[in-house]
Amino acid sequence: MAPLLQVDNLTIRFPRAEPVRDLSFDIGQGETLAIVGESGSGKSLTALALMQLLPRAAKVASGRIAFGGRDLLKLDAREMRHLRGRDIAMIFQEPMTSLNPVMTIGRQIAEVLKVHERLSGRAASERAVELLKLVRIPAPEKRVDDYPHQLSGGMRQRVMIAIAVACKPKLLIADEPTTALDVTIQAQVLDLLDTLRRELQMAVVLITHDLGVVAQWADKVVVMYAGRKVEQALPGDLFNNPLHPYTRGLLAASPRLKNDFHYRDGALSEIPGSIVSAAGEAGCPFRPRCAQARASCGHHVPQLTVPAPDRLVACPFTSPIKAVPHAAALSL
Ligand SMILES: Nc1ncnc2c1ncn2[C@@H]1O[C@H](COP(=O)(O)OP(=O)(O)OP(=O)(O)O)[C@@H](O)[C@H]1O
Ligand SMILES: [Mg+2]
Repeated sequence: MAPLLQVDNLTIRFPRAEPVRDLSFDIGQGETLAIVGESGSGKSLTALALMQLLPRAAKVASGRIAFGGRDLLKLDAREMRHLRGRDIAMIFQEPMTSLNPVMTIGRQIAEVLKVHERLSGRAASERAVELLKLVRIPAPEKRVDDYPHQLSGGMRQRVMIAIAVACKPKLLIADEPTTALDVTIQAQVLDLLDTLRRELQMAVVLITHDLGVVAQWADKVVVMYAGRKVEQALPGDLFNNPLHPYTRGLLAASPRLKNDFHYRDGALSEIPGSIVSAAGEAGCPFRPRCAQARASCGHHVPQLTVPAPDRLVACPFTSPIKAVPHAAALSL
């Protein structure tokens, strides 16, 4: 069966930079794909490209985004508006900036239903209460008349999720959905997302810095570095046997996972340096920070290879390292 979403060789260009390059991945129906990578690796721009909401200065320079067999890049603005919010929805990191501060949450949910589902005012209001119930907001009949500032951060994020899933989208893009929340609330919100994914049969693109989140909630993982995919794996394979030097660094630097792995080759506890703009540079984008870099790494960008089933890596010098996982901590 064709995947729900298939992204082929996506390149996003600003006048002086290409922050996403040659990126390909796909997501099956109901699947959770995690995209990880440090700040500036191009995760949010990728999400915005899927929604066709890139900043004005940015263009999709090349590539293809197929959703349910349709090429999103060929849709006109009206067709895309129709799709957005109904078939593909997105939740952002900071719910306060995405909610309207002077409109009750009930009305904000109802608006979406009126636009996309053509529900009457009354039907939309009733459905808004049901949606608040669906996202486990207590006393939804009362809460529906609250304004965003009357809710806690976690509750606001639940409202954002209610808006996003109001039309039962086939694909939900969650860009750092819990970063702004307390750690205890984070797990609740992610649990909720996962439950809704199953109940509504949604596919989820989960963008996160947090590898602990990936271990628990993802079906497959794309690791991005400087706008490129450097590794892709099933979570268990990624954690037990990270292949790309950048992935190894990410794992070793992850506070939640650090104690669960004991790398025998003494992996880095942090990755020195920062993402440099790879624009115009030859060679592997990770080379300036890679402890294993060789002269040949400067010659050309490493191609993705398939070292094992369900596995991709863009480093010709990778050799499997042994890590001993703490099975209970990973619950894989
Ligand atoms: N309007 C813009 N003009 C030029 N470059 C931009 C613009 N917006 C983003 N970028 C660049 O694109 C790169 C990727 O940005 P993006 O927001 O996708 O990163 P990210 O992986 O989501 O990071 P974070 O984890 O911090 O959210 C960054 O290096 C950023 O500087
Ligand atoms: Mg981002």
